[in-house]
Amino acid sequence: MVASDHASTVLDGELVLGIETSCDETAASVVEGGRIVRSSVVSSQIDLHARFGGVVPEIAGRAHLERIVPVITEALGVAGLSPTGTSLDGGRDLDAVAVTVGPGLIGALLVGVAAAKSFAFATGLPLIGVNHLEGHLYASLLEDPDLALPAVVLLVSGGHTLLVEMRSPGDYSVLGETADDAAGEAFDKVARFLGLGYPGGPAIERAAKAGDPRAIPFTRPMIAEGLEFSFSGLKSGTVRYVREHPDVASADVAASFQACVIDVLVAKTIRAALERGAKSICLAGGVAANGPLRAAMADAAGREGFRIFLPSRQMCTDNAAMIAAAGFHRLRSDGPTPWSVGALPNLRFPGLRSH
Ligand code: KG4
Ligand code: ZN
Repeated sequence: MVASDHASTVLDGELVLGIETSCDETAASVVEGGRIVRSSVVSSQIDLHARFGGVVPEIAGRAHLERIVPVITEALGVAGLSPTGTSLDGGRDLDAVAVTVGPGLIGALLVGVAAAKSFAFATGLPLIGVNHLEGHLYASLLEDPDLALPAVVLLVSGGHTLLVEMRSPGDYSVLGETADDAAGEAFDKVARFLGLGYPGGPAIERAAKAGDPRAIPFTRPMIAEGLEFSFSGLKSGTVRYVREHPDVASADVAASFQACVIDVLVAKTIRAALERGAKSICLAGGVAANGPLRAAMADAAGREGFRIFLPSRQMCTDNAAMIAAAGFHRLRSDGPTPWSVGALPNLRFPGLRSH
């Protein structure tokens, strides 16, 4: 693929159905030309898992199985397509089916992969296996087709914390990742410890509004150098602090913890963008829905002269539009995925070595 200053190189109007079931969202979407979201349906299972304080894999798999056909049918219908992908109004029929093959929960992934394979096989359309993490990168390109590249993308989700240089769609380098917990995982564990509920990120953000971010001076892990992250020490430091100060207000703990995570994420993203000579900075993944993180990143990027793109909150958290967009580009670069593809729960980011 030819690298270009702007991302908008491919403008054909192929329609790709995206299917996403890697964790606790059953999602389907139709995207035109890798850019235009014709439909995006997300059925969240948050209510099913909330009382357990986290995602229960067995329950997630069963819920995906119940919801997958209605969700796909709705996504096709909203996009003006029949349940088999033919146009209802004389327009273009569906061209391909993209599905998340990993990383994620095995029982959850299997539902989406089996559905996508069956659909593609029955309709004769090409199947495209998509890496969920690569999907998250397309959130920014979908919403800002003129994104100036190269961009440094901070991908922060429940399972991953990565700094990625994106030179063109499909051409990336991983600049840094977490040595232990992901940022979202730290939010979830601290929220659970404080009894704030699930999912932890939004719960901490809400609680922090009433707290003082300077109340507890948590050490900013590895902030002074490098592009690697570590959040497990901060998580245990937070737990230790609360045990030693039982009267501390939860709002102050939430605000101080959140400020600490944000300081580290912003400092390392700016460092990466300066080192790589990036033009833009983007956020991706569920934690990128965090309001104070968005504000702090926008401020810092503005000060350093980088363009910033903040995807909408729905595009940050798991959805299938980003999978369809990633699939559109993968089909162009790699062709269809073999029918033998399985679900790959431990799939790494493209180009990242396995541990
Ligand atoms: O990308 P995502 O929807 O699913 C994964 O692929 O992991 O990310 C989910 C993560 C969870 O850890 C959740 O607590 C976190 O994103 N999250 C947030 C916020 N909204 C979701 N973290 C901080 N602030 C938020 N507002
Ligand atoms: Zn995700």
